[in-house]
Amino acid sequence: MSESGMTDEGAIDNASKSIVEVDYNELIPNNIDLANDARLKKALERWQPKYVDWWNKAGPEDTRDFEVYLRTAVGVDPKGWAKFGHVKMSDYRWGILLAPKVAGRTISFGKHKGEPVWQEVPGEYRALLRRLIVIQADTEPASVEQQRYLSKSAPSLYDMRNLFQVNVEEGRHLWAMVYLLVEYFGRDGREEAETLLERRSGDVDKPRILGAFNEETPDWLSFFMFTHFTDRDGKMQLAALAESGFDPLSRSCRFMLTEEAHHMFVGESGIGRIIQRTCEAMNDAGIKDPNDIEAIRSLGVIDLPTIQKKINFHVAVTLDLFGSELSTNAATAFIAGIKGRYKETRIDDDHVLENDTYKVARVVEGKIVEVEEKAHIAINARLLDDYYLEATGGIGRWNKIVAKTGCEFQFSLPYKGFSRKVGVFSEDFISPCGEVLSEQEWKDSKSDWLCDDTDADFIQALMRVACTEKGKFAGWIAAPKSGINSQPLEFEYVKIS
Ligand SMILES: [Fe+2]
Ligand SMILES: [Fe+2]
Repeated sequence: MSESGMTDEGAIDNASKSIVEVDYNELIPNNIDLANDARLKKALERWQPKYVDWWNKAGPEDTRDFEVYLRTAVGVDPKGWAKFGHVKMSDYRWGILLAPKVAGRTISFGKHKGEPVWQEVPGEYRALLRRLIVIQADTEPASVEQQRYLSKSAPSLYDMRNLFQVNVEEGRHLWAMVYLLVEYFGRDGREEAETLLERRSGDVDKPRILGAFNEETPDWLSFFMFTHFTDRDGKMQLAALAESGFDPLSRSCRFMLTEEAHHMFVGESGIGRIIQRTCEAMNDAGIKDPNDIEAIRSLGVIDLPTIQKKINFHVAVTLDLFGSELSTNAATAFIAGIKGRYKETRIDDDHVLENDTYKVARVVEGKIVEVEEKAHIAINARLLDDYYLEATGGIGRWNKIVAKTGCEFQFSLPYKGFSRKVGVFSEDFISPCGEVLSEQEWKDSKSDWLCDDTDADFIQALMRVACTEKGKFAGWIAAPKSGINSQPLEFEYVKIS
């Protein structure tokens, strides 16, 4: 982690330092010795062309001939596990990478605490595990589908390259989950793997499983918000699954987490650069009032209140991804040792939580109160609270950017009950600062808190064309502080043909 709390690709954390060498001689690059597992190899090689077909139909549009400066995991060397180089998009190869086994690892929570981790799926938890893996798997291709058209409006080659890096890694995350389904769940698993390629984000008949993954990502502001807020949910879910007593799931998730850090870096730094550009433009034009929307927009930058509205939206839909705060399924998964809490092993308690409680906020008689609930039932509420705390950090860093330019504006996270469709607040009307309102009051103020069509049209119009000149950036976003892998900003990160 850098000082700012963000991780770029030069700074890989410790978890990835001992990846077993990746075999690139195989059709499917891997570090699981696929060459010596004929059954698995055959099953995956049968799925591979269907995956490529999905990528061609639903992945980044019209980019087959682009050569992109991508990072690919290659082996064990602490500094050199990731190799950078131009790769033709149609030649990109996805593979299966697991973090190494930890010798003597035991289950760290729930009723099996202290027992050796499972290398095979325990029969009693088969359905539960399969469901969790499928839900995680489904989010991976969904985000690629949501971002399909964004390269056509990229603010620079640097940003376009980052988009593709995120896309190929989300594709690989699908591979990671499909490996588990095919290897450990027999015929059911193979069927699930097929279905994952059939659902489509936003499709009326075959939508993706979770709501936020059926929303559009129509512009780059949405993309950066998505990678900052929604990929951070991905990180929390993966971190909770990385604690799993089912060791292959834990090892898959541990490697995926190293890639997720970069996705959040793309989001946080992208929004930070948009904010910086807006503040600079306001200063140059002598505009002091951040609410002078028309004047600010006429400068060709996004006003800060609109950015706040986008934050409100993305936080609300992302919090819904945690599922209901009070959940018997989440309790079952915890007790079974299948899905832990965030940083489970670092929490100072007995990790069984038989008699523990957790405070969950909700509306009672028109007021928000905290109610003590059984800790098992409130596992999702706790993960959501951990997420919320981490997301606050990003807001603080954006506020520092604003303050440095001398502009006066403060971003904030909306209250966790704002505009929720899932969970304990789903029936309530709550403002971003946490006031309980009537439905009419909420409707009257909604356009102050969330973008309306006019805002969306403005953003669309501003970002209509891509900026593809080397070293140049669209007028609504500042250049990043440095390039990728120590390359200069003028570097040709994407060779467009
Ligand atoms: Fe992912
Ligand atoms: Fe991600």
